[in-house]
Amino acid sequence: MSHEGSSTSTGTWEQVARADDVPTDIPLAVTLVDGRRICLVRLHGEVFAVEDRCPHRDFPLSGGDVVAGHLECPWHGARFDLRTGQCSQGPAEGDAIATYPVMQVNGIVLVGPAAATGIDSSNSN
Ligand code: FES
Repeated sequence: MSHEGSSTSTGTWEQVARADDVPTDIPLAVTLVDGRRICLVRLHGEVFAVEDRCPHRDFPLSGGDVVAGHLECPWHGARFDLRTGQCSQGPAEGDAIATYPVMQVNGIVLVGPAAATGIDSSNSN
């Protein structure tokens, strides 16, 4: 089961959630101001942000599980490293999803621009 949040833009960083609202090991789906969907995942106290789209069939990842530091796609099991976005196993192996830098300020989670290692989400429908 995924959760849903909302975001507010502040310069190049967007406020996407209250830190307390990001559950441990359960993806929280958030839509950025420009419409991109991301997943927030708390792992060992640290919050990660990755795009909410599996490169295998473009299905959302936000319903997936967190397994051994990876986000596992709920559809066909591709696993993505939360730090790098690289797919380490499954049908999307060799592909990657976008990762976003995360800051926590005064209990608010902020997400920065996507890292260059992922897939360009601007081409999504
Ligand atoms: S849609 Fe993610 S592994 Fe197939």
